[in-house]
Amino acid sequence: MSTAKSRRSDAAHVGDAGPRFAGALIEWHARGGRHELPWQRDRSPYRVWVSEIMLQQTQVGTVMSYYERFMQRFPDVVALADAPLDGVLHLWSGLGYYARARNLHRAAVCVRDEHGGRFPESFEAVARLPGVGRSTAGAILALSSGQRFPILDGNVRRVLTRQFGIASAASDRNATERLWRIAEDCTPTRHIDVYTQAIMDLGATICTRRNPACGQCPVAESCVARLTGRQHELPAARRRPERSLRQAFMVAARRHDGSVLLERRPERGIWGGLWCLPQFDTRAEAEDYLRHTLNSAAPRPLETLRHAFTHFDLVITPLLAHCSGINAPDPARHAWYRASVPDALGLPAPISKFLRRLASEAVQEQLLG
Ligand code: ADE
Repeated sequence: MSTAKSRRSDAAHVGDAGPRFAGALIEWHARGGRHELPWQRDRSPYRVWVSEIMLQQTQVGTVMSYYERFMQRFPDVVALADAPLDGVLHLWSGLGYYARARNLHRAAVCVRDEHGGRFPESFEAVARLPGVGRSTAGAILALSSGQRFPILDGNVRRVLTRQFGIASAASDRNATERLWRIAEDCTPTRHIDVYTQAIMDLGATICTRRNPACGQCPVAESCVARLTGRQHELPAARRRPERSLRQAFMVAARRHDGSVLLERRPERGIWGGLWCLPQFDTRAEAEDYLRHTLNSAAPRPLETLRHAFTHFDLVITPLLAHCSGINAPDPARHAWYRASVPDALGLPAPISKFLRRLASEAVQEQLLG
């Protein structure tokens, strides 16, 4: 008997279409997929984990050099756990979304202390690590040891949405559950690692958001979006809040030896946990700080810096001042930093660039003066 409930759950599954889809992707991967990525060599769960975290919000092209440097410095999970967090943030500088680096370090400590230094290989244990969600846990286990777990990151979501014609917003919970079931149905029982890499590669290189290359797609013939001419409607575009513009003032307090005062930012918020110039909402507050905490005055405003965050642009006015010290410095929160002999601290990339420029201008001034 076919009840409404069973009809509904039938509709959520894709039947034979799943294995056919997977077969076509596996076959395509040999000729059209990516094979030379650094994390595809020596696929230990540790190496795959680090790559998946880096790739969560960042494109392959950007991740490559960061990944190689990270692996040289932290070749295994215990090396990562034993390192100071600042050293990890230092290597992450420029990749953005720094909570990923903090979670990576916390998770490494957890693997060292609770799993005897061996990266866990059960789904439950991997998914409990800080910063690892269901899809990332699935990807780690599928890619490193061929375990059968589905994945549903942004690229895969787009591929499945188009292939099976799922018309709904990304925020729709029912649609997400349905896509997870479809992802599960499509995950094959053999060559799981190849399939997992293939569906990611298809989403990143062919089934792209703006310009899908349907002519080169190995599953175009069964793609509901293509057959109904809706490639550009699926998945439905997310309503993005309008970008706003924010202003900040940063104090660049410089001592005679060229070192500049840095302050560690709170863990929450932008550039969480990184070392940065002391930041203020208004120029008056920055000047107050200079006068009362640094015994300095008359700062010189420098050219503004602009940095794009996901939802807003930050326009920073640096205020350069000379100073001899700081009242009550707290070594956990304050550091004197010399860009010419930099310590391994995590700095936001634009601030690190600004400090390097400031240092080289100071050298030039000395040479000319
Ligand atoms: N994006 C997320 N994981 C990836 C992987 N393993 N290879 C390429 N792109 C990815």
